[in-house]
Amino acid sequence: MTKKKLNIGLIGYGFMGRTHSNAYHRVKNFFDVPYEPVLQVVCGLVEAEAKAFAEQWGYKSHTTDWHKVVEDENIDVVEICVPNNLHAEIAIAAAKAGKAICCEKPLALNVSEAEEMVKVVEEAGVPNLVSFNYRRVPAVTLAKQLIDEGRLGKIFHYRANFLQDWTISAKVPQGGMATWRLDIKAAGSGVTGDLLAHCIDTAMWQNGPITDVCAMTETFIKERMHAETGKVEPVGIDDACTFLCHFDNGSLGNFESTRYARGHKALYTFEINGEKASIAWDLHDLHRLSYFDHSDESIVRGWRSIHVTDSDMPYMDKWWVPGLQIGYEHTFVHQVADFLQNLAEGKSTSPDFREALATQYVCDAVLTSAKNKKWETVKKA
Ligand SMILES: NC(=O)c1ccc[n+]([C@@H]2O[C@H](COP(=O)([O-])OP(=O)(O)OC[C@H]3O[C@@H](n4cnc5c(N)ncnc54)[C@H](O)[C@@H]3O)[C@@H](O)[C@H]2O)c1
Repeated sequence: MTKKKLNIGLIGYGFMGRTHSNAYHRVKNFFDVPYEPVLQVVCGLVEAEAKAFAEQWGYKSHTTDWHKVVEDENIDVVEICVPNNLHAEIAIAAAKAGKAICCEKPLALNVSEAEEMVKVVEEAGVPNLVSFNYRRVPAVTLAKQLIDEGRLGKIFHYRANFLQDWTISAKVPQGGMATWRLDIKAAGSGVTGDLLAHCIDTAMWQNGPITDVCAMTETFIKERMHAETGKVEPVGIDDACTFLCHFDNGSLGNFESTRYARGHKALYTFEINGEKASIAWDLHDLHRLSYFDHSDESIVRGWRSIHVTDSDMPYMDKWWVPGLQIGYEHTFVHQVADFLQNLAEGKSTSPDFREALATQYVCDAVLTSAKNKKWETVKKA
C-alpha cells in the first residue's frame, strides 16, 4: 500500500542532524509507520557543507537560510537541530506556519523563551516533540515500565550522574561552530541545560515532578578565548553542577553533572531505590538494566543484569532476535517511530514542549539556587 508522503525539513546538519536523518532513513525499514518520510531540504550555516550533507544523506535540496525551510509550503515537519539560542525563533516561526516540530533539547535558552514557545505551539495546535532521546533506550523504557507496574513499591531515592571530561584544558575556546556549548549566549547554560536536562527529563518521567532544589555550580575556567571574536572573554556557563531535590512523591533526588570528570566521556547513570526493589542503568552498557528484587529467595537474591533484547521488551520486537543488542542511534529511530504514529493521529509526542518546559523550570530553579545559595521551589508547567 502506498503511504502518504511526509516532507521533512532539517535545520542543522551537525551531530544531531545526523542522528535525526539516520532515524528517518531507518524507521520505515523496521517500524510500520503511517507515512513515507521524504528528506526534502537540509539547512546549515556553510553552503558547501549543507550541499555535501544533502548528497550524503539523500536530501533533495539544501539552503543556508532556515526561514526558507519554515516558509516552504511543501514542508510538513521541521526538525530543529541547531544550537540552543536558535530554538525559540525557529520553533515559533515553524508553529505559526503550521508545521509539526521536533526540537532538540534543551527546549530553549531560558524559561521566558520556553514559555513563549509552549504558548505558540499550543495556540497553533501543531504536533510537537522535544528530543530527550534517552527515554527511548529500551532499558530506560523498561525501567519506567517496572516502576509503573509497582515493582519497586514506594520510591525513596533517585540519583543520576552525567559525567564528561572534554573541557578540562584551558585551551578549549568558547563560541563558534564547534564550541558553542561553552558560550552562554549560544547555550543558555553549561552542564545544567546540556546534560542534566536529560537526567531531569528521564527522572520526572519515571518518578514524577520535582518540587524544590538546592544546587551548587562551578565554573572552573573563568576565561576562555572566544572563537568568533578572537578575544579572551569571561566564561558564563556552569562547568559542573550538583543538586539535591525533593520529588512530589516524597523521594529524595541527587544529581551531578560535570565536564571535568577525567576519564569519563558520556557516563550517564541512574539508580532508583524503592521499598521492594532497585534499578540501575549505565549509558556505557545501555542494553542492560540492573535490577535487585528483595522478594527473591535470600540464597539467590542479588543484583541481576537484565539483557534488554527480548521481543517482549520495549521496542525490541522491531529489531533482531533475542540476545542481539541495539545502540545509541536506535533511540532516535524509536523517537521518530513514535512521532510519526502520533502525527497520524494529530497528536504530540511525549516529551512535548510543555513537558520540556517543566524540565526548563527545574534547570532554572537549579541555576537560581546555586546563585542564591538557597533552596528554590520549582514552578509547575
Ligand atoms: N538529544 C541529545 O542527546 C543531544 C545531543 C547533542 C546535541 N543535542 C542538541 O542538539 C542541538 C544541536 O547540537 P549539535 O551537537 O548537533 O550541534 P552541532 O554544532 O554539531 O551542529 C549545529 C548545526 O547548526 C547549524 N547552524 C548553526 N547556526 C545556524 C543558523 N543560524 N542557521 C542554520 N543552521 C545553523 C550548523 O551549521 C550545524 O550544522 C543543540 O540544541 C543540542 O543541545 C542533543
